[in-house]
Amino acid sequence: MDGKVIVVTSGKGGVGKTTVTAAIGAAMAMQGKRVAVVDMDIGLRNLDVVMGLENRIVFNIVDVIQGKCKIKQAAVKDRRIDNLFLIPASQSHEKNVIRPENMIWLAGKLRKEFDFTFLDCPAGIEQGFKNSIAAADEAIVVCTPEVSSVRDADRVIGLLYARSIKPRLIINRIVPKMVENGDMLSHEDVLDVLSVDLLGLVVMDDKVVVSTNTGTPLVMQKDSAAGSAFQRIGLRLDGHPDLPIENPMGQKGFWKKLGAKFSRKN
Ligand SMILES: Nc1ncnc2c1ncn2[C@@H]1O[C@H](COP(=O)(O)OP(=O)(O)OP(=O)(O)O)[C@@H](O)[C@H]1O
Ligand SMILES: [Mg+2]
Repeated sequence: MDGKVIVVTSGKGGVGKTTVTAAIGAAMAMQGKRVAVVDMDIGLRNLDVVMGLENRIVFNIVDVIQGKCKIKQAAVKDRRIDNLFLIPASQSHEKNVIRPENMIWLAGKLRKEFDFTFLDCPAGIEQGFKNSIAAADEAIVVCTPEVSSVRDADRVIGLLYARSIKPRLIINRIVPKMVENGDMLSHEDVLDVLSVDLLGLVVMDDKVVVSTNTGTPLVMQKDSAAGSAFQRIGLRLDGHPDLPIENPMGQKGFWKKLGAKFSRKN
């Protein structure tokens, strides 16, 4: 097997990297892929809680890197979704216990075991980010429609290009009503600033909070707009790159845009 290692990063904290990692990981495993999600936030792990797997952790990524266990022993299997595995972070180590060369070694092993490995990067551009991008074949940059988040995403995109990694963007926590009222940047505004390929648009959705608090995979929740956006992102990442991206503004966005085009001409 020659799987892909994809880093999920953002620069800014709290924009949805862990949510994205858990949801896309679950979506792709449900689509039949063998998937690992790796918590790269050494000292502050939380991907395990978001996935509801916190009580089943025995070993962690640092144990694997230090040769204390095999990947198979550290990987926690999700009981609800076949083919989904979590490699947790350590809570008791310093961030710099892992070096980029360790991650390059680990990624080599993960590519053999999994079709897709997602690295849930910590916020910032320090050690955890450097370790993650050293190992990655591709990158997903997550941002929200806020100026500070867009600015940090821009910085991270520059750093990824400098490593010859072409990033794709997910804009998360879009509130259509606020965009409509002119109180939030639209996804077009964000894309104008960040000239990068768009992978998906995800609305603000209460079901995300329910999923996080109960450890129930978002993609298994009925009627979740964010959940179905993540399912489509999963398809786009594997085999269906041209699957259209749904406009969260629906028809309103379409008519508004069309209206703006005509008013410019007149
Ligand atoms: N689409 C969404 N709708 C509603 N809430 C969301 C959405 N995406 C993320 N959230 C919420 O935002 C918060 C931050 O999300 P998350 O932990 O995934 O961010 P993060 O980028 O991983 O943060 P950190 O930088 O601390 O690791 C969480 O409470 C999560 O439930
Ligand atoms: Mg996180």
